[in-house]
Amino acid sequence: MKKLQASNFEKIILTAFMVSLARQFTDIPYAKELAQLITAQNLVELPQPQNQDKSVLLTARIEARYKAINEVMAQYQIAQVLELASGLLPRGLFMSCNPNITFIESDLSAMIRCKQQLVQQLIEKRPNLHFLEIDATSRPSQFLKSAEQLNPGQPVMILCEGLLTHLNMAEKQQVCANVREMLYSYGGIWITPDFIDTASLVRSLQDDPDLQKLLQTGTNLTGRSLVDNNFETLEAARQFAYEQGFCVTEYSMLNVIDQLSCLEILGIDAEVVKKMLARSSVFALSLNAT
Ligand SMILES: C[S@@+](CC[C@H](N)C(=O)[O-])C[C@H]1O[C@@H](n2cnc3c(N)ncnc32)[C@H](O)[C@@H]1O
Repeated sequence: MKKLQASNFEKIILTAFMVSLARQFTDIPYAKELAQLITAQNLVELPQPQNQDKSVLLTARIEARYKAINEVMAQYQIAQVLELASGLLPRGLFMSCNPNITFIESDLSAMIRCKQQLVQQLIEKRPNLHFLEIDATSRPSQFLKSAEQLNPGQPVMILCEGLLTHLNMAEKQQVCANVREMLYSYGGIWITPDFIDTASLVRSLQDDPDLQKLLQTGTNLTGRSLVDNNFETLEAARQFAYEQGFCVTEYSMLNVIDQLSCLEILGIDAEVVKKMLARSSVFALSLNAT
């Protein structure tokens, strides 16, 4: 964002705008409206050329992870949601149509303030949609800022997509510790597609040269390598989650291939996307019983 002093994590904020622009080529509710607002209001200056809306695999992955998370959420039927690193995700906007859901969006202060302003331009204020400044890595945890909105007797569903991939191992551990504390207090589940292995990422890069350029743009913006910050193998990702005190259930992103609107909108070869999704999962993490 133009007026931000770029600090360590704040540089990552720009990637939220990149993925939001990619999401406009999907049928995800409110995705186009949000992308149009950020473009019309000139909220961000991204480097040229803006390949973010040209990488077919990025758009397919962004749509798939969003829809795969929604599918996994539906299996748990938990009515209070804490979304970390919400960026410009439209899930809160959409889900809070249901007054029985409490939806808390959170992100770094500059991002969540910007998000709240954008949402206010699209819908009336809703009593069940909240916006909190939470640095997901901070210790002691800032997650308990959500205590005011959450019902203590009810489980919570914690979501994050596209955050852990930017964090180094020590930072990922801090997020895990914060999630653990929340799940100890409330019960519930953490749903995330962010346990990515470098081997599958490298294979996707070979299938889509634009994705390579885009990841380089992301690295230049954030000063963080999307390749190096991931797990070497999927087995290493599972092991990490286990060592952090979680049981993992995995859901293949291939389950949502038939729901991907961007394939038709952008004329994407479904076979290439299938290959990528076959290597990608959403993790549902609960606390180990011990
Ligand atoms: C790639 S974007 C993903 C945004 C959104 N989840 C999505 O899928 O569109 C990464 C997001 O992480 C947020 N972020 C970066 N560091 C953070 C931190 N320490 N705590 C919380 N959010 C953070 C950024 O502000 C940005 O919104």
